[in-house]
Amino acid sequence: MFRHSIRTLLVGVCALAVASQTGPALALAAPAGAPAQARAARAVGAQTLADLNTAMKGEAFAHASYNLYGTQADREGHPSAGRLFRSTARTELNEHLREAAALAGVVGTNAANLRQAVNGETYEHQVMYRGFAAQARQDGDMKAAELFTEIAADEGRHRDAFRTALTVVTTGHGTVPAPPQANEVAVPAGLPQVHAARTRANLDTAMHGEALAYAKYTLFAAHARQTGNTALARLWEGTAAVELHEHFAGEAVLAGLVRSTRENLRKAITGERAEATTVYPGFARQAAAAGDTAAASFFRGTAADEARHAAAFQAALNRLR
Ligand SMILES: [Fe+2]
Ligand SMILES: [Fe+2]
Ligand SMILES: [Fe+2]
Ligand SMILES: [Fe+2]
Repeated sequence: MFRHSIRTLLVGVCALAVASQTGPALALAAPAGAPAQARAARAVGAQTLADLNTAMKGEAFAHASYNLYGTQADREGHPSAGRLFRSTARTELNEHLREAAALAGVVGTNAANLRQAVNGETYEHQVMYRGFAAQARQDGDMKAAELFTEIAADEGRHRDAFRTALTVVTTGHGTVPAPPQANEVAVPAGLPQVHAARTRANLDTAMHGEALAYAKYTLFAAHARQTGNTALARLWEGTAAVELHEHFAGEAVLAGLVRSTRENLRKAITGERAEATTVYPGFARQAAAAGDTAAASFFRGTAADEARHAAAFQAALNRLR
């Protein structure tokens, strides 16, 4: 979770994070009359906004990982651990990520959301995945090179579909493209199938980008539905499913993300404790010092939630013994 997020930041490039620094001036410079959430981004300081973005990546990654851990717990005959992982995953997405996104002003108009997605997909298609594929090939990680190349092509198709949808939304003419079909990838417990340290780091960065794309597109879908644009909502939902069930899942297989339920619980406990004791309290202090009181209160409340998650996972681990 945050261990991963922080490493991701150090590695340097996460698709949507970079997009949010470059293109989505969108979220930072919403036009007059933009929805309250889009304007909210201007209401928090730069450090708080960066912390909210880090939080969103961690929460999106936790959501995606815990759902896979839940499926693994079911496979091993631990249904109560499976339920705990899934209910915790829902909290990470529906409460923590959603609230961080509201404070960061992630969701704007349908057109603004499409522009943000076009920028993210363009970066992933043209820069990130091509670079990752070349590095994996150089290092002899051929399976990863092949996967990164396939995903790069998918992201180009996502960009094209979102561009078309943007034209439809802004001109009122034409048809929003049909959503893509996800080829769902199963993620059994297994060891990493890559060798080079930088391939592993790139997989970690990529998984965070995919998990975040899924989460953002899910929020954008809800906004499209609320504003009566059902075809656009379907495009967001179908693309979100590809990001999670195909891209994130395919990368998770190569990364060896899912292990035994015991190991998954231990990893979850370590991440939750770091969030509860270090990451979120630090963000809360910074937000308070900057006068971002709503964000400070969100970070404090989330730290308390993560401490409860750590305790629940620890109890589940004790029951397995
Ligand atoms: Fe969380
Ligand atoms: Fe995509
Ligand atoms: Fe993707
Ligand atoms: Fe948590």
